[in-house]
Amino acid sequence: MLITFEGMDGSGKSTQARLFAEYLRASLGAEKIILTREPGGTPIGEQIREVLHSMRNQEMAARTEFLLYNAARAQVVAQVIRPALEQAKIVLSDRFGDSTLVYQGYGRQLDLEMVKRVIEYATGGLKPDLTFFLDVAIEEGLARRSNGHQRGEELNRMDTQTREFYERVRNGYETLMRQEPTRWIRVDGARSIEQVQFDLREKFNSRQFIPTQTV
Ligand code: TMP
Repeated sequence: MLITFEGMDGSGKSTQARLFAEYLRASLGAEKIILTREPGGTPIGEQIREVLHSMRNQEMAARTEFLLYNAARAQVVAQVIRPALEQAKIVLSDRFGDSTLVYQGYGRQLDLEMVKRVIEYATGGLKPDLTFFLDVAIEEGLARRSNGHQRGEELNRMDTQTREFYERVRNGYETLMRQEPTRWIRVDGARSIEQVQFDLREKFNSRQFIPTQTV
């Protein structure tokens, strides 16, 4: 089963994905759960992440950015996600193909049909069974990011886009959720870490969840 976490920058996805992995490990056994992230999750993917996020790379063309996210994705699918699914593990991914669809498709305004085809190529057609959307207002996410930055956390190239860009990304997520309402679970992320995690677990457990795809 593949479960993904999506949301705007600063929505708390990574923290929530980590806590959810701890919860599943405690209930199902540590060896059953794999937590990964995009871009990254493999040595090659982490190198690509550095190129994508470096503040030095302001001149990066939208098509370069798009292909690099997909290059990192192809690697994590081949090296981590597919092998784990073949062993009937549960894979949690902090971002996946939907991020490219909203950031590069809706945000950068690349052709959506082309974007979908390349994502499908990178993943070999693998789709998440379930996707959590951590819902926070754009301003709240950006404020959290800049507070984090003042405490020494990374501020990356993708955190410094225009307001219009983030609005298109946010609208992109809303469109995707409307198109596939049963795959997405929206969680209000504007609360304490503990409250959000509690809600997320409750929503997960209350789902009569039947995976659509085993491998
Ligand atoms: P994160 O650590 O907040 O997930 O940072 C990843 C950044 O990269 C975030 O701004 C979203 C962006 N991103 C894309 O633009 N396209 C993608 O396909 C992925 C996975 C991430």
